[in-house]
Amino acid sequence: MLDIKITKTTAPKKLPDKDDPLTFGTIFTDHMFMMDYKEGIGWYDARIIPYQPISLEPSAMVFHYGQEMFEGLKAYKAKDGRILLFRPDMNAKRTNRSCRRLCIPEIPEEDFIQAIKELVKIDSAWVPTREGTSLYIRPFIIATDPFLGVRPSKTYKFIIILSPVGAYYPEGINPVKIWIEDDYVRAVKGGIGEAKAGGNYVASLKAQIKAHDEGYSQVLWLDGVHRKYVEEVGSMNIFFKIDGVVVTPELSGSILPGVTRDSVITLCKSWGYKVEERLISIDEIYEAYQKGKLEEVFGTGTAAVISPVGQLRWKDHIMRIGDGNTGPLSRKLYDSLTGIQLGKLKDIFNWTV
Ligand code: COI
Repeated sequence: MLDIKITKTTAPKKLPDKDDPLTFGTIFTDHMFMMDYKEGIGWYDARIIPYQPISLEPSAMVFHYGQEMFEGLKAYKAKDGRILLFRPDMNAKRTNRSCRRLCIPEIPEEDFIQAIKELVKIDSAWVPTREGTSLYIRPFIIATDPFLGVRPSKTYKFIIILSPVGAYYPEGINPVKIWIEDDYVRAVKGGIGEAKAGGNYVASLKAQIKAHDEGYSQVLWLDGVHRKYVEEVGSMNIFFKIDGVVVTPELSGSILPGVTRDSVITLCKSWGYKVEERLISIDEIYEAYQKGKLEEVFGTGTAAVISPVGQLRWKDHIMRIGDGNTGPLSRKLYDSLTGIQLGKLKDIFNWTV
């Protein structure tokens, strides 16, 4: 159990107006959590302080070699006033999986969850209530040794910031157009693709710009070796409904183990769907499309929850999925997940805290 020292702000900011669109990741609350690490001491000095800039040496290792990880989860306000977190234990576990891959010291799961709970409690007035909004929680760890040699840092900072957010994509739950990228890749097996590390996201930017220039919202990533097997979509996991079966790429080493991905698999199985986690080639997707069996495609992630795909562009082929509207399974998943997250639906899997 952490002994968290609390210093409250003396200059609280104005809360966003009720009709503020809460553009994703642009507004930050009054407080932040911070804790330091030093080799030989461990994690120390847990504190909640006013949200403020941090001071680091320009030589801090995170700036040069990218030794950092981050997480993302959300808090929701239920009708009865309770503030609910969605599966924070999954984020705590994934944090430590990322830390192990990135040679960052781990954080005890219960400390990670306690820090989030205490910070969200202090800034609870910032949890928005309008439909489609939530408080996005961004924990992250950075390497802070002032050193230019390549090795794991011996000092770190663990920080949590909070941001009231609306939809991640401007399209919201409306279908998006996706560009299938067969030149750039996001990650390779044995690399850091399954860790939540900033490096994976910078690797995605070039193709994202290319897709935008072609008039597409996001990229569908193929594997780095064969440029054949589907991996992720944008910054999300991807699902296909083919001839009644729900199919998603298996966690092969280069794919992020998404919390929403896991929740969607559990929900679909509980509704009687056959769910397959396996290799899916882009040729199989195109063949299913040609046979009229590609029924739905959607991305899953914490930020957007469910993001239906309306169109896939692969080389010169354009696959139009469904009738251009949000498919019934995508809609049901979105309504069920957000219903549980908001405490409106019975939480039969005990996901909310
Ligand atoms: C997610 O929650 O889907 C993400 O990974 C988005 C985040 C990078 C903003």
